Amino acid sequence: MNEVLPTPRRIALAGASGTIGSAVLRQMEADGHDVVALPRGTLADAGTLAEALAETRPEVVISCIASRSGSPRDAQAVDYEANVALLEAAQAAGAGHFILLSAICVQKPLLAFQHAKLAFEAVLAASGIGYTIVRPTAFFKSLSGQVKRVKAGKSFLIFGDGALTRCKPISDDDLARFIAGCIDNPEALGKILPIGGRGPAISLREQGNLLFKVAGKEPRFKSVSPKIFTYAERILSLGAPFSGWFAEKAEYARIARYYATESMLALDPETGTYSADLTPESGSETLEEHYQRLLAGV
Ligand SMILES: NC(=O)c1ccc[n+]([C@@H]2O[C@H](COP(=O)([O-])OP(=O)(O)OC[C@H]3O[C@@H](n4cnc5c(N)ncnc54)[C@H](OP(=O)(O)O)[C@@H]3O)[C@@H](O)[C@H]2O)c1
Repeated sequence: MNEVLPTPRRIALAGASGTIGSAVLRQMEADGHDVVALPRGTLADAGTLAEALAETRPEVVISCIASRSGSPRDAQAVDYEANVALLEAAQAAGAGHFILLSAICVQKPLLAFQHAKLAFEAVLAASGIGYTIVRPTAFFKSLSGQVKRVKAGKSFLIFGDGALTRCKPISDDDLARFIAGCIDNPEALGKILPIGGRGPAISLREQGNLLFKVAGKEPRFKSVSPKIFTYAERILSLGAPFSGWFAEKAEYARIARYYATESMLALDPETGTYSADLTPESGSETLEEHYQRLLAGV
C-alpha cells in the first residue's frame, strides 16, 4: 500500500545534531519536506540567524535545542535565550508555525532548566505565532544507562524499592513521527501536548527485570537511597554562594534527585499525583526491542 505523503513544507530545524533533532531531520526528509538545519553557529548570532531564515522563508520552525549540561547558566542561554532569538527570527521571516520540543517534567518545575523551558513556553504561547509544545516523557536513551552494567554481569541499580517512579518511554523515531504529525494538524495548533511511548508505564525495577530478561540473566538489584542526592546537594549548596562551581554541582545533585523521585507521567490536576492513564501514548517501538538491539550491539 502506498503511504500518502504530507504536503511538502519549507522547514527550519534547530537542534538537528541532537538525539531527537536528528530523528526529526530523518523523518522530515522521509516525508518530503524541504528542511534546512540551523547549526549552533547560526543560532549564536542574531544577524546570521535572521539572514538564514530570511533566505529559507520557513513555513514551519521546529526547535529541538536544549542545554547539554542542564546547568542554570547554559539552560538560560539555550532553553530560553536561543529559543527566544529563534522565535523572533521565525516571526520576522513570516513562519506560521513554531513547534517546540519541551519536556513533561516542566509540569512540576523544581530545576533551573525546567524554569528556563517554561519561561520560553510562555513567550511562545503569547507571541501570536501558531505554536505546538511537545512535552515527551523519558526517551529510550535515558533508560539505557545500565545496559553495559548488566551485560558485564553487574547488578541493576534502583532507587528505594525501584517503584518510586514510572514513565512511558518513547523511541527517538516514534517521537519524531509524533512531531512530524503536528505539521498542518489543526488539532496540534495552540496546544501543549504531553506524550509517551506505547506503554504501559514502567518502574525502574520493571526496567531492570526487562533488561535481565532480554539479556537472559537472573535479575540482581542493588538499592540506593535517593537521600544521597539530598545530602550531596546540602553539602554542595554550602559553597554555592561563594563559587559557581559549587552552585552548578548542587544543581546536578537536585537534577539527580528529581529523576530518582519524580515520575515522567502527566500529573493529575485533581489529585496532584502522576497518572499513567492521563499520559497519552504514541508510536509502536518497545523498550524490549530497543534493549535487544543494544545487547546485540546493533
Ligand atoms: N532525555 C530524556 O529522556 C528527555 C525526556 C523528555 C524531554 N527531553 C527534552 O528533549 C529535548 C532534546 O533532547 P535531546 O536528547 O535530543 O538533546 P541533545 O541530544 O542533548 O541535543 C541538544 C541539541 O541542542 C543543541 N544545542 C545545545 N546547546 C546549544 C547552543 N548553545 N546553541 C544552539 N544549539 C545548542 C545541540 O547542538 P550541538 O550538537 O552543537 O551540541 C543539539 O543539537 C531537551 O529539551 C530535553 O530536556 C528529554
